[in-house]
Amino acid sequence: MAEHKTIAIILAAGKGTRMVSKLPKVMHPVANQPMIGHVLTATAKLMPSKTFVIVGPGMSEVSSFVKPHKTVLQEKRLGTADAVKTAMPMIADTEAETVLILYGDTPLIRSGTLQKMLQARSSGATLVVLGFRPNHPGSYGRLKLNKEGCLEAIIEANEATAAELEIGLCNSGVMAVDASQLGVLLAEVGNDNTKGEYYLTDIVALARLRGMECGVVEASAEELIGVDDRAALAEAEYTWQMARRTRAMQEGVTLCDPGTVWFSSDTDIGKDVVIGPNVVFGPGVSIADNVEVRAFSHLEGVRIEEDVTVGPFVRLRPGAVLKKGSMVGNFVEVKNSVLDKGSKAAHLSYIGDADIGEKTNIGAGTITCNYDGFNKNRTVIGKSAFIGSNTALVAPINIGDGAVVGAGSAIEADVAKDALALSRAKQINLPGRAHALRKKLVTQKTSIKNQKKSED
Ligand code: UD1
Repeated sequence: MAEHKTIAIILAAGKGTRMVSKLPKVMHPVANQPMIGHVLTATAKLMPSKTFVIVGPGMSEVSSFVKPHKTVLQEKRLGTADAVKTAMPMIADTEAETVLILYGDTPLIRSGTLQKMLQARSSGATLVVLGFRPNHPGSYGRLKLNKEGCLEAIIEANEATAAELEIGLCNSGVMAVDASQLGVLLAEVGNDNTKGEYYLTDIVALARLRGMECGVVEASAEELIGVDDRAALAEAEYTWQMARRTRAMQEGVTLCDPGTVWFSSDTDIGKDVVIGPNVVFGPGVSIADNVEVRAFSHLEGVRIEEDVTVGPFVRLRPGAVLKKGSMVGNFVEVKNSVLDKGSKAAHLSYIGDADIGEKTNIGAGTITCNYDGFNKNRTVIGKSAFIGSNTALVAPINIGDGAVVGAGSAIEADVAKDALALSRAKQINLPGRAHALRKKLVTQKTSIKNQKKSED
C-alpha cells in the first residue's frame, strides 16, 4: 500500500487523572520528549498524508507541541469511538485508504510494527488490530479469535464473561481501518454498556457482521506499554533507556556502566566514544567519533567534535561547542561558548558566553564574569593565549592571540595580542617578620591563659 494513502489519528483527549498533574498526560516526557512526540515520530516514518491529534478542552500545550499537525477538539470524553468520530469530517474528502488510529500515551510504539499493520491491511483485511500478551491482562480489552485464528470481536474487560477474561491476547488500542468503511462502522456504535461510552472496539464485531475480514498483528507487551500513572511513566522511561543503551553499544559506543547512562530521544553519538558511569545527556547533544565523556558529567544542548575529552564532573549547558581536540576537565561549566580546536579548560572554571581561540589554555579557577546583573556580555579570547589560574575575566572583554594573563588577575580592560596582563596587588616580602609575628601571637595567647586562671 502506498504510504501516502494513510491518515493517522492519535487519541489524546483523556484527562490522565491518575498522573495527578496539571500537565496533559501525553505531554509528560520519556527521554526528555513528550510521549506524544514519540508517537508522532513513529507515525511520521510511515509518511501519512495527514496526522490529526484528538484533544480535550484545555489542552493548548498539546496543540502547540504537535504543530504543524492539526488538533481536533473532542468536547466531551464520550469514549474512543466518539474521539475518532470527531476527526471524521477532516478525513471525509481525502483519498486515504487506511486510517491508522493510535494512542498518545503509548510512547514506545515502533514504526516497524505500524508498517506490519499497514501490510496486513493491504493484503485484504478491512480492519487490523494490534494485539499483545501482557503478564496481567487486567482491564485490557480481549481479542476474541475464531477457530481459524481470525479476529471476531474485542470484548472490553468490563463486559467480558469469566471465560473471555481468560483470553491472554489483548487490545493495545492501535487499529488500521479501511478509510471507506470507518465512518459506516462508527455510525453503528452505541453506548449501551457498563461505562455508557462509545467503544471503538465495537467496530470489530460490526465489521464481522458485514462479512469483513479483521486481522491481528502482535507486538511485545514492552512496546505497547500504556502510561496511566507515574509508575508506568517510569517503567516506559526505563524500557526506553535500556533499548537506547543497547543500541549505543551496538553502534560502537562503550558504556562503562550502561545502567547509569541516561540518553535523550535526540542524543546523537558517533563511534569509538567512551561514556563513563553516571553520565546524563539532556536534549540536543551531538557527539562526533572518538570522544571520551568521563564519569558524572551532565550535557545539554552541546555539540562535541572529534577527539574531545570531557570530565569527570563536567556540566555542559546549551550552546556549548567543543571543537576537535579540545578538552574540558573536572568541575568546569561551559554555557553558550565555543572552545576552538585544541583549547583546554582543565579544572574548576565557569566559561559562559565566550569564544576561546585555538590552543588557548584556561587556568584552574578562571571565571568569565558574563552577567552584570542586567546584561549578558561576551568574552573573546584569541589563539594560543594563556589565562592564569584564578582569573576573573569581566565581560565584555577581548584578549588577543598569544596574550598571557597572570594568575589571580581581575581583568576589566582588553588585552592586546602577545601582551602580558597582571592586575593583582604587588607582592611584598619582609625578611624575618614571620618569626616575629609568631612570637607575638604566642605571648598574647599565654597572657590570656594566665588571666583566666587567676579569675578562676
Ligand atoms: C482502551 C480500549 C481497550 C484497550 C486499551 C488499551 C476501548 C473501548 N477500549 O481502553 O480495549 O485494551 O484501551 O490501553 O477503546 N480517549 C479519547 N477520548 C475519549 C476516550 C479516550 O481521546 O473519549 C483516548 C485517551 O486519551 C487514551 C485512549 O483514548 O489515549 C484510550 O483511552 P482509555 O480510556 O485509556 O481506554 P481504556 O479504557 O484503557
